[in-house]
Amino acid sequence: MSLMGKIALITGITGQDGYYLSALLLGKGYELHGLVQPLVYDDTHTLAPFLDQITLHRCDLCDGGAITRILNEIKPDEIYNLGAQSHVGMSFDVPEYTTNVNALGTLRLLESLRALKLENTTRFYQASTSEIFGDTPPPQTEHSLFNPRSPYASAKLYAYHLVKNYREAYGFHASNGILFNHESPKRGYDFVTRKVTRAVASIGVGQKECVDLGNLNAIRDWGHAADYVEGMWLMLQQEQADDYILATGEGRSVRELCDVAFSCIGVSLTWIGEGEEEKGIDRLSKQVRVRVDQKLFRPLDVENLRGDPTKAQEKLGWRRKTSFKETITEMVKADQSCLIYDIKRFG
Ligand code: NAP
Ligand code: GDD
Repeated sequence: MSLMGKIALITGITGQDGYYLSALLLGKGYELHGLVQPLVYDDTHTLAPFLDQITLHRCDLCDGGAITRILNEIKPDEIYNLGAQSHVGMSFDVPEYTTNVNALGTLRLLESLRALKLENTTRFYQASTSEIFGDTPPPQTEHSLFNPRSPYASAKLYAYHLVKNYREAYGFHASNGILFNHESPKRGYDFVTRKVTRAVASIGVGQKECVDLGNLNAIRDWGHAADYVEGMWLMLQQEQADDYILATGEGRSVRELCDVAFSCIGVSLTWIGEGEEEKGIDRLSKQVRVRVDQKLFRPLDVENLRGDPTKAQEKLGWRRKTSFKETITEMVKADQSCLIYDIKRFG
């Protein structure tokens, strides 16, 4: 039994946010359970620092029966539904699977809670996303228009509405965290920040020449994952469930992300050309370090996300602590350490 006596279940515990949320909840004395996908590459080693303190359950969010059985076994006080096919670009290739996990997965969890009559005892956090705003101009608030521009965002918007429906219809304590992009050294390799920080680390030691990217104009509001999981927890500690934006309020383009990441290895970029011909060039050596590859563009992209976190600041007392530069610097340093370890180990 934990010190607080509180039991939490995290779906998607092996992901970036699962890592930071596990650290936070264990630090607060929770008894912690996590759902991990069966039948896929076992990546539970990502939780290594605290693996022995977590009870893992093999369960796919597409498997309603297994979800009900596990919820009945654990009867959690809090559920953090982080599990998702979270790559926006990939959702255009696997829209049906994305919808099954991101939309119906949420439905399965909520319906299981209802069937087990846990709606009055289990609090529910839904990992919603700024992607639901699509091309609605910034700053986006909780009252901005939703206009999803991908199968990922459409599925997440379904889940958003469902959470609200269950709150209003059945009295669930269920909250949507509408989170803007948040990054860290635990970020998946396919997301643009991590792709860039890994490339910069490799370029710094001469293992790579250049990084190929898609839309350099896209603007995102990038925070640090460690700050955002605190906001998730705060939402479930409120007397009333509600929906909140977590964001920094600052927008930067992918081009600016490259500028900051390359500055970590002492490279200052100058940008020449336009569209597909645009290049980021090392001012001193004149070497091309960033190229545009048309294949990396999405069929439809979201151009400008910058959130207004006022409600979370005022009602939850939430504050982001880490600046964009600190986040990217931490990621580059972590990727450099991984590389140095690999070079020492494998030559
Ligand atoms: P992530 O690193 O991609 O983690 C996703 C997690 O979901 C992984 O543990 C993954 O398991 C699991 N998962 C995928 N498909 C599943 C399935 N069919 N059944 C059960 N689990 C499944 O994502 P993240 O960055 O931590 O984000 C957490 C959540 O917040 C996601 O729902 C994401 O959509 C949402 N979100 C993220 C951001 C952001 O900027 N990071 C912003 C807004 C919202 P495997 O490890 O086995 O693949
Ligand atoms: N991944 C990727 N790879 N994105 C690129 C690249 C590239 O090579 N080049 C340019 N981009 C652009 C994308 O087109 C997009 O406009 C932007 O960089 C950010 O892409 P991602 O890092 O893949 O993140 P995302 O904003 O699409 O989605 C992330 O944030 C959402 C919250 O706003 C994910 O974590 C989602 O799960 C999350 O909901």
